[in-house]
Amino acid sequence: MTVQEIRQAYLQYFKDKGHHVIPSASLLPENDPTTLFTGSGMQPMVPYLLGESHPEGVRIADSQKCFRSGDIDEVGDNRHTTFFEMLGNWSLGDYFKTEQVDWIWDFLVNIIGLNPNQLYITCFRGSDEFDIPKDTEAALLWQKKFEQSGMSAEIVDFPEKDGMQNGRIFYYDSEKNWWSRAGVPQNMPNGEPGGPDSEMFWDFGVEQKHHEKSVWKDDLCHVNCDCGRFMEIGNNVFMAYRKMTKDFTELEKKNIDFGGGLERIAAAVIGNPDIFLIDIFSGAKKTLADLSGKVYGENEKETFAFRVIMDHIRAAVFLIADGAVPSNKDQGYFTRRLIRRAVRFSKDLGITQSFCASIARSFITSYSKTYTVLAENESHIISALQKEEGQFQQTLESGLKEFEKLLAGFKKGEEKTGRKVTEISGKQAFTLYDTFGFPFEMTEELAKERGLSVDRSGFGVALEKHKQTSRSAAEEKFKGGLADTSEMSVKYHTATHLLHVALRRVLGTHVEQKGSNITPKRLRFDFTHTEKVTDEQKKEVEDLVNAAIVKGYTVSSVEMSIEEAKTQGAIGLFSDSYGERVKVYTIGDPNFSAAGDPASDTFSKEICGGPHVENTNTLGHFRITKEESSSAGIRRIKAVLE
Ligand code: ALA
Repeated sequence: MTVQEIRQAYLQYFKDKGHHVIPSASLLPENDPTTLFTGSGMQPMVPYLLGESHPEGVRIADSQKCFRSGDIDEVGDNRHTTFFEMLGNWSLGDYFKTEQVDWIWDFLVNIIGLNPNQLYITCFRGSDEFDIPKDTEAALLWQKKFEQSGMSAEIVDFPEKDGMQNGRIFYYDSEKNWWSRAGVPQNMPNGEPGGPDSEMFWDFGVEQKHHEKSVWKDDLCHVNCDCGRFMEIGNNVFMAYRKMTKDFTELEKKNIDFGGGLERIAAAVIGNPDIFLIDIFSGAKKTLADLSGKVYGENEKETFAFRVIMDHIRAAVFLIADGAVPSNKDQGYFTRRLIRRAVRFSKDLGITQSFCASIARSFITSYSKTYTVLAENESHIISALQKEEGQFQQTLESGLKEFEKLLAGFKKGEEKTGRKVTEISGKQAFTLYDTFGFPFEMTEELAKERGLSVDRSGFGVALEKHKQTSRSAAEEKFKGGLADTSEMSVKYHTATHLLHVALRRVLGTHVEQKGSNITPKRLRFDFTHTEKVTDEQKKEVEDLVNAAIVKGYTVSSVEMSIEEAKTQGAIGLFSDSYGERVKVYTIGDPNFSAAGDPASDTFSKEICGGPHVENTNTLGHFRITKEESSSAGIRRIKAVLE
């Protein structure tokens, strides 16, 4: 089965089980203060997992585009990719463990034909600290499935200590079998949802174990040991808890969040752990082979380069299509890093000409049936890629020379003083960054290849000194990490709706939301507008928002069809990222349309997942702290509630 066929079969299967299939949300999250990118299928679903009602019902399925920026430097082996698709099915307070285990087994074993002999399962061992019980229920449900297939399935308590022990189902603690956006229970901020999970692993066979080089070669193998034999292909999260200050409360409605790596499942189907052998990479691989005259799989260094280029260009294509053009800030910084790293590795294949566009076109073709947005934006994607590639090609050679010079200098110094230099200074790394366009991480990677480290904090200091304007972005991209889903963030979310309307009233209805980012300390809002917003206009916007706050509008939501939302004059991005039914939040009287009815006391109507405050009078005083250009034709406002 091809990737396309597996995706379709999965969505069809869950549709037949009463699920509503929704389109993938953007890779760039809207109104999500927690991350720069959508990194799991769960992210766009958080409000619903916490109890907001989903306009499409209580059973949802999708294939969500994901990007994990933390994995950029891992790419090159046979299993890591930065971009991937996550198959997802959700029960929002509807079915729970029994159905989920039944269905996902049925899908994996009967629909796509995976042999249960090669399937292994992990379950949560329980936590005394957080008073969460061992998940024997899930373990027994799985055991029954194996037994129905004529296999006895041993349940093993401590695989980390004693290895496989002929087991089939294994308990692990929260490091492995707990899921939340923040990871283990200890790291979860207040209010965050999470729960025990149960993962499915595929056994590619003992011969995959990296006996020679692996750090695992002397250890006892178990499904989570990362030796290369097993690969996680799916995860049932039993999302039943919410973190309170120290402990957990059970959610009123218990949810299922299943996430299955589409590419990994496809690798299991072809029976080879090398993700890059699945069909979706074939076109790009052939293009790259033609361009370079090299053959994938022939030698290690070149195969590594093939993988880096294929992964990075595919991710860059999807990121640019969703709006992250290469830049020095925020999400665009990662697109830039991907393209530059791909260019660097193209040297290992002896490529001297421009190659990004041809690889990108191969992916656009491979994904054309599923993601029409790629073909629609083809010329934009190609030109953004080519521009970045061209700029970087020019400086890469001289930058690499500079790097070699630096190392030669180290060596000379060593000969003279007898002291070994082990670190590239922050200042030196900054010169490579500033003059030669080397992303910090690339310098770090080059250094690592030579057994050197780089002074990261020294680099941060040099960067800060140099670039006041991008300070906040730099902090963000080095920090990454999570904010919370606190009361303050909810207030900022409602304030964002007020601001959106106020801007449209003051500047005109050409104002459309282009991005939003909320932390518990401020809101940030990007919108289409070509000129600087004047001081008078800013004041007018602030006054309108503050008047709406003082007025004490109620905030309410209704679910409706997308057509009805349009008729009612709701604002929102009417793109294909919505399903047929949407949720519309009204600030003010919900019975009036927002479309310019002067008699109406409706301040705002906007398509949105929530959550929001119940009344605007809880927001405090609204103040714009900054107005600046974000990119061509897009302005950015930062504002606080005081
Ligand atoms: N949200 C779960 C994961 O990403 C399914 O693994």
